[in-house]
Amino acid sequence: MALIIDGKKISKDIKDELKEKVAKLKQEGKTAALAVIQVGEDPASSVYVNNKKKACEYIGIESLSFHFPETITEEELLDKIKELNEDEKVNGILVQLPLPKHIDEDKVIKTITPEKDVDGFHPQSVGALSIGQKGFVSCTPAGVIQLLKRSGIEIAGKECVVIGRSNIVGKPMALLLLRENGTVTIAHSKTANLKEVAKRADILVVAVGKPKMIDSSYVKEGAVVIDVGIHRNAENKLCGDVDYDDVIDHVSAITPVPGGVGPMTIAMLMSNCVSSIE
Ligand code: GUN
Repeated sequence: MALIIDGKKISKDIKDELKEKVAKLKQEGKTAALAVIQVGEDPASSVYVNNKKKACEYIGIESLSFHFPETITEEELLDKIKELNEDEKVNGILVQLPLPKHIDEDKVIKTITPEKDVDGFHPQSVGALSIGQKGFVSCTPAGVIQLLKRSGIEIAGKECVVIGRSNIVGKPMALLLLRENGTVTIAHSKTANLKEVAKRADILVVAVGKPKMIDSSYVKEGAVVIDVGIHRNAENKLCGDVDYDDVIDHVSAITPVPGGVGPMTIAMLMSNCVSSIE
């Protein structure tokens, strides 16, 4: 029987640990505030932003909300970020992506000071990760590492294959698995013989962005499969990048969608916020 990795439970455990930590820090007179910036009315972004604010409330971090209309200029947004960079009360700054087309996301990410970059998207944060220095780590891949560790899954020495090479998930995921002494391959849309490469994996992390693309023909018997994808299918049901029903009898452990990787992103964001006070 495969282990179904319960991201909801692990995320709750982490948030409860953080809640205790925040209470202790408060006794030492240290408090935290996260600035959450949303631009426009994208419904998915509104859901994410609300969940982030709720998580802040749960663990005892103040969230400062800034919701701007779609028409805000790039300059106005950058000015707001610069103001928050200087604000001593603010420990973390999060700008919900995607942004409207007239705003350069890279510029926005670079404007957030690395000391407050709780998303871990700043080039300095990414660079620090790649050379093993301290810095904020992108939340979703950090969450995957926690899922593996807290499920008792050894990474050191394992063949780890990451399918997907995005800056937010695939690349930092590979670096984190390497940091844990995994033997890491990054595969992507141009990889030749993708099935053969994926089948080498003891730990297969899938972040391709295509619903149910990965079936049992990509999975070695007994592999651990981590599904980062989330999509809504024709029947309005959530599904991942992995064809769960097809692979379930071939894996030793798997993350479901929903309830696997998803809840971990916010837990790790909260963890980054707490680190920013410490
Ligand atoms: N949009 C989708 N995921 C994320 C995330 O993790 N952080 C931010 N800032 N925007 C996102």
